[in-house]
Amino acid sequence: MVWNAQATVSFLLVIATPILVAAQDQAKESPERDTSAIVAAAGEPFVAIALLRELPRQLGATDLVELQHLDRNLEAPTTEAEREFARELLLVLARSSELRSLGYVHQVFETVPWRRQDAARAIAEFAIDQRRRAADWRLLVRSLPVVDDDDARVILQSLQMFPQRGTKPHWLREVILAGLRSGDVGKSEAAKLLSHWTGSQLHDGDPTKGPLSQWQAWFDEKYPELPEPILPVDSPTSRYTYAKLLTFLGGERGAKGDPQSGANVFEKAQCIKCHRFGARGEAMGPDLTNVRQRFQLKQILEATVFPSQSITDQHETTTIVTTDGQIFSGVLAAADGKIVVLQANGNKAIVDRRDIEEALPSRKSAMPDGLLDPLSLDEIADLFAYMRDRQQ
Ligand code: HEC
Repeated sequence: MVWNAQATVSFLLVIATPILVAAQDQAKESPERDTSAIVAAAGEPFVAIALLRELPRQLGATDLVELQHLDRNLEAPTTEAEREFARELLLVLARSSELRSLGYVHQVFETVPWRRQDAARAIAEFAIDQRRRAADWRLLVRSLPVVDDDDARVILQSLQMFPQRGTKPHWLREVILAGLRSGDVGKSEAAKLLSHWTGSQLHDGDPTKGPLSQWQAWFDEKYPELPEPILPVDSPTSRYTYAKLLTFLGGERGAKGDPQSGANVFEKAQCIKCHRFGARGEAMGPDLTNVRQRFQLKQILEATVFPSQSITDQHETTTIVTTDGQIFSGVLAAADGKIVVLQANGNKAIVDRRDIEEALPSRKSAMPDGLLDPLSLDEIADLFAYMRDRQQ
């Protein structure tokens, strides 16, 4: 993430200072007016950010309710300054340490995917500076798949301060991945958290490869059935890179896809063979009807471009070898005492339990790679508009 907003903010502060001074004078006269000035300035994010930074650490209940109300009515930001304002608002709400405000930040985390990283950062700072609550620990662990850069570093650091320890293998993997996404300091925070959680210190291996390489090797050996803890890499043969698609879909043209044409692309790109969306499609993979509420854009894109990067438990691929030597690979479902293998080509194989000689978990998703390659950029924009359409 690039915060060139920061420089602009300082620059504009110079211009905004007279307004600020006026606002502060006003604040001195009546303490409860602090937040009203922010509400009034909400249409001018630079001024509003400056006012937010002037607020005292602890705010009264009325102020907090007012800020929650303001936050609830924020539209999805279109500029860096608006984004920064939305982010700082959550920081202020969390650091107040008031139960209802903290509850509000949790609610944002649960219901507004694009704000998940900001909400988690706010809770992490609260945990570092003030109190460690079990509910916050769970939120922070669940935020790991969506955080990067400096936010990931702070979240990894905050988790070390809780007595709770993560035991699930896929959490350990998410700690490694979050560390890999957050620079050298983040990598050592991830390594420290893994030591805290597992109770082990790893000293062997080549330290020049970075503090996490030993944990990657450790994980690989301990959980060979799970996907490797490495960041996904674009396939050299793919037409589009993940980064290019993310920039495109976040940009002007990419964000303006047509959901109605997207419904056709959903079929053309074969998504419909494995996913339900509304009343259409097959249920081999997860239902995508509400995917826009569960995932933010980068997660939907990541799951589409790198299917094997994170595989949910219910959708693991299994390879079945039957007693007469047939091999089927796909997602398993049970029906009438038989096993149904939903295969990647869309066909179903039905196998009697007694005929199964071996069932091996696979590290590879049943969802094929490269599904977006045959599509034009406009078709990809339409497909994502369809999956993110509010009308559905
Ligand atoms: C051959 C079957 C198959 C096809 C075709 C397919 N998927 Fe998937 N997809 C899956 C399975 C199985 C999973 C769950 C396991 C995993 O994450 O790999 C999945 C997971 C996903 C997820 C993550 C959803 C979640 O809740 O975790 C998204 C998003 C997704 N697919 C999008 C798409 C899109 C978009 C297309 C079409 C371009 C597509 N898929 C085509 C089988 C398929």
